[in-house]
Amino acid sequence: MQTTTAADVALESGGSAIIASRAVPVKSAQGMPSGFLWGGAVAANQVEGAYLEDGKGVSIADVQTAGAHGVPREIHEAVREGVYYPNHQGIDAYHRYREDIALFAEMGFTCLRTSISWARVYPNGDDPEPNEAGLAFYDRVFDDMVAHGIEPVVTISHYEMPLRLVSEYGSWRNPALIDFYLRFCETIFTRYREKVRIWMTFNEINETMNKRTPFNQAGLVFSEGEDVNEVKVRASHHMFLAAARAVALGHKINPAFRIGCMVQYPTTYAKTCRPEDVLARRLNMLPNYYYTDVMVRGHYTNLCRAQLRRLGVELEVSEEDAAILAAGTSDFIAFSYYFSSVASSETGDDLLVERGNPYLDRTDWGWPIDEIGLRVALNELYDRYQVPLFVVENGLGALDEPDESGFVADDYRIDFLRRHIIQMERAVNEDYIDLMGYTTWGPIDLVSVGTGEMRKRYGFIYVDRDDAGNGTLARSKKKSFDWYRRVIASNGREL
Ligand code: BG6
Repeated sequence: MQTTTAADVALESGGSAIIASRAVPVKSAQGMPSGFLWGGAVAANQVEGAYLEDGKGVSIADVQTAGAHGVPREIHEAVREGVYYPNHQGIDAYHRYREDIALFAEMGFTCLRTSISWARVYPNGDDPEPNEAGLAFYDRVFDDMVAHGIEPVVTISHYEMPLRLVSEYGSWRNPALIDFYLRFCETIFTRYREKVRIWMTFNEINETMNKRTPFNQAGLVFSEGEDVNEVKVRASHHMFLAAARAVALGHKINPAFRIGCMVQYPTTYAKTCRPEDVLARRLNMLPNYYYTDVMVRGHYTNLCRAQLRRLGVELEVSEEDAAILAAGTSDFIAFSYYFSSVASSETGDDLLVERGNPYLDRTDWGWPIDEIGLRVALNELYDRYQVPLFVVENGLGALDEPDESGFVADDYRIDFLRRHIIQMERAVNEDYIDLMGYTTWGPIDLVSVGTGEMRKRYGFIYVDRDDAGNGTLARSKKKSFDWYRRVIASNGREL
């Protein structure tokens, strides 16, 4: 049972003040079904570093500068002399992965979500042959995970395609990318056939439509005068075809493969019960269900058509393409969940989306903390699609201050995760959601995608590195390390 929240009190007294702190949830729960996957999630480009080692090519992650909270990262056309690019070194996991995997194993991880750097395997993207040294690296990584009883969960493309596919081909706006992607898939599906069972095609594919510049998601930069919406729709269509063909190909290579799509789930509330605001909430979900509808249902639904109409874009889907989409639907939906938003509208057709919600606290980076939004997300996705779900990212990016001995007492992180796990357990045990697993984002501190910072830390493991790239890169356990170990050991009962 949860105690009465400060928000309840504020509501009962008619208040709407910013809530400083919400109820502390219970510390034990019913736990998860057996076989539930517990672990963490990272992406190759945010941890590996070694950006040109052993034949790796330059990726889109390698040309992004360090930003800061409120200061966007710059995107360069090529690596420039004398500029600091945080992903070039990451947290040096390329050389330290054994130590990191041993620490994850100590926490009891039963799975680890990571990605394969496309540019490590196909340095330019269009190479006729793969780079053997890159493939051998992931052999070592997966072997080490398996030796520790950790199941690899692999994102095929997590924000780091080879840069040449952008500069020479215009990225996913060009259908040529489909074959390059499939060549990459065939290589890794075949090579790791016996080592990896669970795959995801594209990280947060729906951000292609949501972001102003979907460079990480789809390698897109727009030239002046270009019809941005049309390009996003066309690029998404090519990515849908690539993903569907990858699913079909993967199942052929190993029928035991489970290949999912992956989206960022933006739980959205209507700002008020004004019907216009309720409709605005629905409108904010259109560009997101657009992706899950095509990838899970295998065709452009009425909702997709409504979204296309809102964008003012027409899309012709040939019979051949329709058959590909129908034949390669995702086996499960993986999603990231960090916070919820609030939607409102003046006319019922316009849309204002904001993060401000007077009932919620915010993180150091201004992200609302809303654990119930995770339960809402699980229910909405499962109601709509009835396929297994996988929470593959959830976590708290915070400013961690080590004490004199270097120890980080991150009770705020424990509190954040505990609240979310409780809601996730309720979704499973009370709402009967079919959930495969839970991987916290950034079990070890890593380079932030949004800002390129190191000080936005998510980890159970502290990494001695700062925003300018200084530090020993030494790893040390935070307080949350032992807490998460107990959560996993008790299969989610001891929180
Ligand atoms: C997700 C990405 O969007 O959010 C991760 O899949 C990313 O790669 C994570 O790191 C957190 O965002 P940020 O900006 O705090 O790194």
